[in-house]
Amino acid sequence: MVQLRQQLVLELMREADVNTVQEIEREIFATPWPRNAYYRELASRASAHYVVLRQDGMVERPDGYRIADFDPTIIGYGGMWRMYDEAHVTTIGVRRDLQHRGYGRIIFAGLVQAAYDMGAKWVTLEVRTSNDNAMRMYEAFGFKVIGRRKGYYTDNGEDAIVMWSDSIHSPRFRKAYEANLERIEAEVRGLRRDLLTKGD
Ligand SMILES: CC(C)(COP(=O)(O)OP(=O)(O)OC[C@H]1O[C@@H](n2cnc3c(N)ncnc32)[C@H](O)[C@@H]1OP(=O)(O)O)[C@@H](O)C(=O)NCCC(=O)NCCS
Repeated sequence: MVQLRQQLVLELMREADVNTVQEIEREIFATPWPRNAYYRELASRASAHYVVLRQDGMVERPDGYRIADFDPTIIGYGGMWRMYDEAHVTTIGVRRDLQHRGYGRIIFAGLVQAAYDMGAKWVTLEVRTSNDNAMRMYEAFGFKVIGRRKGYYTDNGEDAIVMWSDSIHSPRFRKAYEANLERIEAEVRGLRRDLLTKGD
């Protein structure tokens, strides 16, 4: 477990977190993953890296979540799959009531750090053409649009924009990553950047 500041921790996702992650997903995604997909990913620790961002301590249960075991300490989550030199961001989400407060940036920085730690050279992801907010966040991390997959999203036939990092070891990418870490540091006192995602 990594302490980001007294109230925030970014830690590896556990099976016990899946119900809450799914409940958040149902709120923010048109096509949430089936539970088994998470269990499969969590069982593949060598290639997969899934995290939850958690606020520590006593937290009130927010309104509107149906499941009895909803864990109100979970703010958001993210995941990545590594194949050879490439790390593929498979999912990232922040509880709707807590969006646009800097939490997505922390989770995404954790995934980029994990890509370095896993020895990947590139990071790639898909995003809906309509998802300007997410695209802006990825661009701030130095991601570029490299293509489009026609009708990729089956719920509404929307295209996916494919984004790509270039080499994560390039000075340009590192500079953008550092700038995001500085922003996080300014917003989250006590962040240990080298420890963003390490450990359990
Ligand atoms: C995309 C998402 C993960 C970003 O997390 P977040 O905590 O809301 O974002 P942050 O506050 O960390 O913002 C990071 C940047 O994203 C962009 N952004 C995020 N939310 C935004 C909003 N509501 N309006 C405008 N820009 C926004 C901005 O560029 C922002 O940088 P800024 O703080 O300089 O404005 C989150 O909004 C989310 O869960 N959305 C629904 C699920 C989703 O679309 N996931 C991505 C699939 S590819």
